[in-house]
Amino acid sequence: MKRKVTKAIFPVAGMGTRFLPATKSVPKEIMTLVDRPLIQYAIDEARAAGIKEFIFVTSRGKGALEDYFDHAPQLEQELRRKGKKDLLEALKSTNMESGAIAYIRQHKALGLGHAVWCARRLIGEEPFAVILPDDVISAEKPCLQQMVEAYAKTGGSMVAAMEVAPEKTSSYGILDVEEDLGSIVNVKGMVEKPVAGTAPSNLAVIGRYILSPDVLVNLNKMKTGAGGEIQLTDAIAAEIANGRRVSGYRFRGQRYDCGSKSGFLQATVAFGLARDDLRDDLSGFLREIVTLSKAAE
Ligand code: UTP
Repeated sequence: MKRKVTKAIFPVAGMGTRFLPATKSVPKEIMTLVDRPLIQYAIDEARAAGIKEFIFVTSRGKGALEDYFDHAPQLEQELRRKGKKDLLEALKSTNMESGAIAYIRQHKALGLGHAVWCARRLIGEEPFAVILPDDVISAEKPCLQQMVEAYAKTGGSMVAAMEVAPEKTSSYGILDVEEDLGSIVNVKGMVEKPVAGTAPSNLAVIGRYILSPDVLVNLNKMKTGAGGEIQLTDAIAAEIANGRRVSGYRFRGQRYDCGSKSGFLQATVAFGLARDDLRDDLSGFLREIVTLSKAAE
């Protein structure tokens, strides 16, 4: 089986209810960390990992997402006229080569597994990546690139993994570990959102995957799982039952859960502080409000 990964699926068909009312008209993936939408971080990470084909699974109301990747000739012309080279450069990263990007509709939000399945005809018989844009990972070497390198050795299917506090395990897909090799973990089972106190470990699946096309075959037969949704975790776990390898990959980097308000705010602060043009202003302000709130206690 080929181990080169050139296609990535971005499931962005969810309703983003945790960000209502904002997500009534703005897709969650277009919400910005500093000055770039979440989807831009995901695309940059995919590009760094060698991805050439970008498949978006979208739904009604995600038009802004499609527009974001369109060329904007008028805007570009205006910036050129004004000599705004840095802004033109910033726009470049949003431009996609013709034919490199595809949009598939998920007609009903039946779950992440179902969203991935919707893209099956564009994947064919090769391994593919899945990136959830609301998991933003800042890392020296981008997370998916780390995984692609590890995957060249393991094959099979691979999920990004991270230790979480025991009381948080019921919010994640959790790995049942057979053998812990450090950055790579051999997995003997996976369970989506285990009931508190029943998690097989505290190693949680984060939104980066490299999957064998067999997972799409498993999804053909999948019934609804946890939360009444068709779960990607169940289709990956079925690989283990079929005797195929599934590994967890402990990535090096900091993950922000930008699907939650608190995670999104934390990421905004962290990415702001990482920017040369904002650091001084922002850190001064943060120091000030922390001092003020301590004084008020
Ligand atoms: P979430 O569980 O975060 O759901 O989905 P959501 O709808 O985006 O947000 P909330 O919970 O209502 O606030 C995780 C990822 O899976 C995609 C989402 O777009 C998100 O990227 N997804 C989820 C789909 O594409 N289709 C689905 O049916 C469900």
